[in-house]
Amino acid sequence: LHLNDVKFFSRHLRARRQNSHKGSYGDVAVIGGARGMSGAPLLAARAALNSGAGRVYALFAEDPLPCDSGQPELMCRAADGFDLNRATLVIGPGLGASDHATALLTRAIACDSALLADADALNLLAADPGLQSALAKRHAAVVLTPHPREAARLLGVGSGAVQADRVGAARSLAARFQACVVLKGSGTVIAAPNGDAVVNTTGNPALATAGTGDVLAGLCGSLLAQGWPQWEAALAAVWLHGMAADVLVTDGAGPIGLTASELIPAIRVALNRMV
Ligand code: APR
Ligand code: MG
Repeated sequence: LHLNDVKFFSRHLRARRQNSHKGSYGDVAVIGGARGMSGAPLLAARAALNSGAGRVYALFAEDPLPCDSGQPELMCRAADGFDLNRATLVIGPGLGASDHATALLTRAIACDSALLADADALNLLAADPGLQSALAKRHAAVVLTPHPREAARLLGVGSGAVQADRVGAARSLAARFQACVVLKGSGTVIAAPNGDAVVNTTGNPALATAGTGDVLAGLCGSLLAQGWPQWEAALAAVWLHGMAADVLVTDGAGPIGLTASELIPAIRVALNRMV
């Protein structure tokens, strides 16, 4: 099945109600930020904010706390002491592999919020069977967004095997973790625990640059925070992310040299055009 029609998720695209307020659109907390890696969670947080979440926090594992002077709307805080139950969680971008990172992932899995795990969160998960079984038993929504190498680590195979059967790999992870799995790369596969799987038709090699995965994670987390079910949130996020890149390439801003930051306002435009 190919994701080439917005009917897969369009019933969740809704105009903003006149009497709504920021509390109507959900809170996102991005958890990441090992030293020297603050760009990754900030890109995810910016993507969440620019795709409609009411409030966005960027939570950092390590001192000193960065701030985002280019996006002062973001609330940059220490992850320790933040009540993870009060926001939809996006964990992993630039998280690192420290003991502190593992402790944060453990807390995130244990709480009742919808959870998107990406990047280093997936690598930590691959190395920890205890965390894997805790994740599989979660009641709240779980979305996993591995690239092929991250998927291979989770499955305990080589990335060649993942690429040889991308739909099979995504389905297998979705069943194992009872999660919606987004296996990234050209022809991103979205798979559900019931075996449903869809191949995305938008996107192009302009996306093959650092940080675009972080933007996808923030966008999907934002849709979850706005009340979208995990399956539709994953489909819409992947589709819009690719569509934004396609529009930028048509406009001449790529495919060479497109940056993840530039993708964010293009996603905002693509989303507003669809509502
Ligand atoms: N065609 C279409 N889409 C593509 C293509 C392509 N040729 N190449 C990449 N993409 C898309 C992917 O589908 C995905 O949405 O770009 C995004 C890339 O995401 P990641 O692979 O996670 O890359 P990145 O954002 O750089 O990740 C940042 O986190 O996952 C770790 O190891 C990774 O350190 C890196 C960091
Ligand atoms: Mg990534």
